[in-house]
Amino acid sequence: MSTTFEKLMNGADGGLAVLQVLAENSFDSVLITDASTEGKIIYANKSFKKLTGHEPSEIIGKTPRILQGPGTDAKVIERLSVALKTGGKFEGKAINYKKDGTPFIMFWRVLPIKVGKKIIAWVAIQREGSAI
Ligand SMILES: Cc1cc2nc3c(=O)[nH]c(=O)nc-3n(C[C@H](O)[C@H](O)[C@H](O)COP(=O)(O)O)c2cc1C
Repeated sequence: MSTTFEKLMNGADGGLAVLQVLAENSFDSVLITDASTEGKIIYANKSFKKLTGHEPSEIIGKTPRILQGPGTDAKVIERLSVALKTGGKFEGKAINYKKDGTPFIMFWRVLPIKVGKKIIAWVAIQREGSAI
């Protein structure tokens, strides 16, 4: 029997199963933080490990600031801070650092995850840009 995407997403656990397959297998890094201003990481996929060298289990409870360093553009981070405070979206690029200290260009988007009007978490979709 055929189904529609809406039926699949709204069916018992269907939406959850779809999202899990997408997040776990995405070529892009996916990072989810809690909704607090501190923004602790609650999920990172395998591509995050490939991109940054950090094992997801090691960085749960930390904040994505661990990726920042001396070369990170403060103006970009300020723009993200404003988006977080106002519930807006962010897209930008900045120098970030891998676990071994190697700098790279991070392209990333941050979006609020809302239930009704309430923001329950934030998600980032991230990938590496060309060499510095
Ligand atoms: C979901 C999410 C993903 C983030 N990912 C990154 C990232 O990949 N690189 C980065 O430099 N900052 C990232 N940040 C930004 C920092 O966690 C932090 O919010 C930012 O530095 C602003 O706070 P601060 O001004 O107190 O440092 C991310 C934030 C959120 C909410």
